[in-house]
Amino acid sequence: MKLINEILQYTEAHDLYPDIRVVDAVPYPNLVIEGKEYLCFCSNNYLGLSIHPTVKRAAMEGIQKYGIGTCESRFIAGNIRVLEELEQELAKFKGRDASLTFATGFLTNLGVIPAIMDNPDPFGIYDIPLPINDEDNLIISDFLNHQSIREGCRISRAQVKNYIHKDMNHLEKILKRYKDKRKLIITDGVFSMDGDIAPLADIIRLARTYDAMVMVDDAHGTGVLGENGKGTAEYLGLEGQVDIEMGTLSKAIGAIGGFVAGSESLIKYLKLRSSSFIYTSAIPPEQACGILAALKLIQAEPSLRENLWRNVRRLKAGLASLGFNIVNSETQIIPIIIGSEQKCVDASRYLFEHGILAPAIKYPVVKKNESRIRLTTIATHTEEQIDKALDIFSSMGKKFSII
Ligand SMILES: Cc1ncc(COP(=O)(O)O)c(C=O)c1O
Repeated sequence: MKLINEILQYTEAHDLYPDIRVVDAVPYPNLVIEGKEYLCFCSNNYLGLSIHPTVKRAAMEGIQKYGIGTCESRFIAGNIRVLEELEQELAKFKGRDASLTFATGFLTNLGVIPAIMDNPDPFGIYDIPLPINDEDNLIISDFLNHQSIREGCRISRAQVKNYIHKDMNHLEKILKRYKDKRKLIITDGVFSMDGDIAPLADIIRLARTYDAMVMVDDAHGTGVLGENGKGTAEYLGLEGQVDIEMGTLSKAIGAIGGFVAGSESLIKYLKLRSSSFIYTSAIPPEQACGILAALKLIQAEPSLRENLWRNVRRLKAGLASLGFNIVNSETQIIPIIIGSEQKCVDASRYLFEHGILAPAIKYPVVKKNESRIRLTTIATHTEEQIDKALDIFSSMGKKFSII
């Protein structure tokens, strides 16, 4: 415990310990903290569906029907029918043959990446030739991919090479150098800290040229990007071309869970080999019922997405005209780059004092001296709320000499 205490003392002395606030009520886009309403600019509830009356009603009906948990792995007795229905609907939504759900998005990456890239026969029971050595499998991952991808890669025991963020020359160099290996390229669809979009067409072209598989983590694109909200592949006109399409149910869908969509054989294989499918419990039943309702709304009500994009345009234009550096954000994730860790913490606290919830994102989540206020706008922000926030961002920017 000595080392743990020393680390805690250090982080507290250097103001590195995160402010983890306790939220008492969630009237999105506001949140209530210690009796005061804050305008929330940091939620991934992009379409406001977590509190949509139709979604809440469906979840409550789910509780009446199934109770609140499956209490078993799906391998044993936890494979309730609504999960199978949900997987059929997710596959249809993504335009793929099949899908498989997991309890969270993080667990999806922890389960899928090793299943595909670890030794496929750990017990030596299949009498077929296999790439047995860990070094025969190579994962090539964008440097800014999400932590759950990094952890999934680590567990897989495959060799991992990171390519410079979105640098296709670097990706090709690695593909060329390791052309004889069994290869998986992984990228976020929308990058979670910068809000930019992966160059998927180029990635797929290179993958075809050098015989690699492609996996996309579309946590922040699902429900948001594309004419029908199917995500990054739809937005870029590449539907059906990604081998392994991962998504989360915890952001635009408003619930909890993760999923992967692709071919029948991919999904069948993942059921055989994914530890986080086999050895843990599934999405709770009422969540599955709520998610089914949310998926219907996403498809039936394009106005949800239209409102979101209207807000993205307004917030971005306002920030740009104030002179903030929002790097290359192309989506609802809009970072205000501040740089110094301490300045970023102080700026975030200033926003909080003025009624805006927008936490500081700092090292080690992002690189040192690239600290930022990571803003997200959601469909249910009003124009007045965005304008009010812009006034406060403006005074924050001036006070801390950011603009
Ligand atoms: C890109 C990305 N992948 C995966 C996850 C994990 O998703 P979940 O919160 O559903 O576990 C996140 C969460 O922030 C994410 O941003």
